[in-house]
Amino acid sequence: MVRETALSVDDLIAPLFIDENLANPQPIASMPGIRRETPVSVVNEARELAKMGIPAVILFGLPKEKDETGTHAYGDDDVVQNATRAIKAELGDDMVVITDLCLCEYTSHGHCGIVDYETGEVQNDPTLPILGKTAVSHARAGADIVAPSGMMDGMVAAIRQALDENGFTNTPIMSYAAKYSSSFYGPFRDAADSGYSFGDRSTYQMDPGNSNEAMREVQQDIEEGADIVMVKPALPYLDLVYRVKQEFGMPTAAYSVSGEYSMIKGAIDQGWLDESAIMESLISIKRAGADMILTYFARYAAEKLKG
Ligand code: PBG
Repeated sequence: MVRETALSVDDLIAPLFIDENLANPQPIASMPGIRRETPVSVVNEARELAKMGIPAVILFGLPKEKDETGTHAYGDDDVVQNATRAIKAELGDDMVVITDLCLCEYTSHGHCGIVDYETGEVQNDPTLPILGKTAVSHARAGADIVAPSGMMDGMVAAIRQALDENGFTNTPIMSYAAKYSSSFYGPFRDAADSGYSFGDRSTYQMDPGNSNEAMREVQQDIEEGADIVMVKPALPYLDLVYRVKQEFGMPTAAYSVSGEYSMIKGAIDQGWLDESAIMESLISIKRAGADMILTYFARYAAEKLKG
């Protein structure tokens, strides 16, 4: 009766990795319990999640081939497009398909934008039309929401314009608006094979010491047309989740990232933490102000909530 915050299965978004190169699902060593799906097994996985009442998945693709400009991010027959079509054909409105929209899984150098090799710098503006094209290809495949995660300046405006021009005026954008340059993405880079071959991402992702800057990033994305704003990671940045929700009152997502999953799961597997740490961490993210939580514990939490 007096509990102020309740976690619901409706709050959960489950990330899924689809690897075009696989014939069988493959465990991810740095994320015990999580695996890379095949283009076929991902549909079964999505069906299971839907049965548990999980309303949404977010898809990450591992393509057969990578190149300098991330060509396989936007083909109609590429990995995320095919998986989106397959899941929507099977589950329709029973599963909201969100597509992660970034180039790092598709570029040979692993950066989130195209790179000028003379300066070694990521080229912000030349990347924008590629993100626009990718968004349109996702929407054409049936994506319900597109989620740009590359932290390029102007990405939300470019994607909104591309979607609108192609008739996808009703496709919402979930923007990774305040995304920090974080060590907690380490296991994801194994999972999605998206590590970078030189430099780091600190020129486009946020400095962990800054929070006013994060507010400006969120504001900019809202002005450009973001429908949902995200803070990422979640647990080390709950102050931002709180501030963003308080200040903007937007639908606010928090991404509890791979490193958060692995440190909790790893400690539980070692016997160093009790399993209840999982639900405690999720409710803390909700308490801070998140309306939705992207978490690799989605399946576990859905089972737990069902009792
Ligand atoms: C791609 C992207 C990343 C994550 C989501 N989208 C990795 C990164 O920016 O390096 C991280 C998710 C996680 O760690 O669970 N830009």
